Amino acid sequence: MIAIASDHGGYALKQEIIKHLTEKGVPIEDLGCGGERVDYPDYAEKLCRAIVAGQYERGILCCGTGIGVSIAANKIHGIRAALCGDCFSAEMSRQHNDANVLCLGGRVLGTELAKKIVDTYLTTPFSGAESHSRRIAKIADLEK
Ligand code: RB5
Repeated sequence: MIAIASDHGGYALKQEIIKHLTEKGVPIEDLGCGGERVDYPDYAEKLCRAIVAGQYERGILCCGTGIGVSIAANKIHGIRAALCGDCFSAEMSRQHNDANVLCLGGRVLGTELAKKIVDTYLTTPFSGAESHSRRIAKIADLEK
């Protein structure tokens, strides 16, 4: 199960992604907002705490640029959030970084590119290589 959340700046893109994934049969839960003006850290926190608690495997966060949600998400221990504006970065965020949150900018990305980034992110597995696992473990050490 995938979770998605946004502020008002990412709301329109979030709706497009929900429609896209629902049509593909990917189970997705919308944690808000409903389009009203909100503060992006609140929604980043809500989604990331649910992921750390094991309620969702991975999440997608959208704000205007994707920057605010990515900064906020990476403050939560256990979250590796990747702000991606291209498919190569989305692929590497999974293969190398085992990113558990994808951040997107609704005022930056076209809808079709965003959908391809989401598809790439959701279908690419972590490589499992020892070198990447070691580096991820070092990121976790930074949280201590
Ligand atoms: C909201 O206006 C905007 O600041 C927010 O969506 C995001 O772009 C922040 O990084």
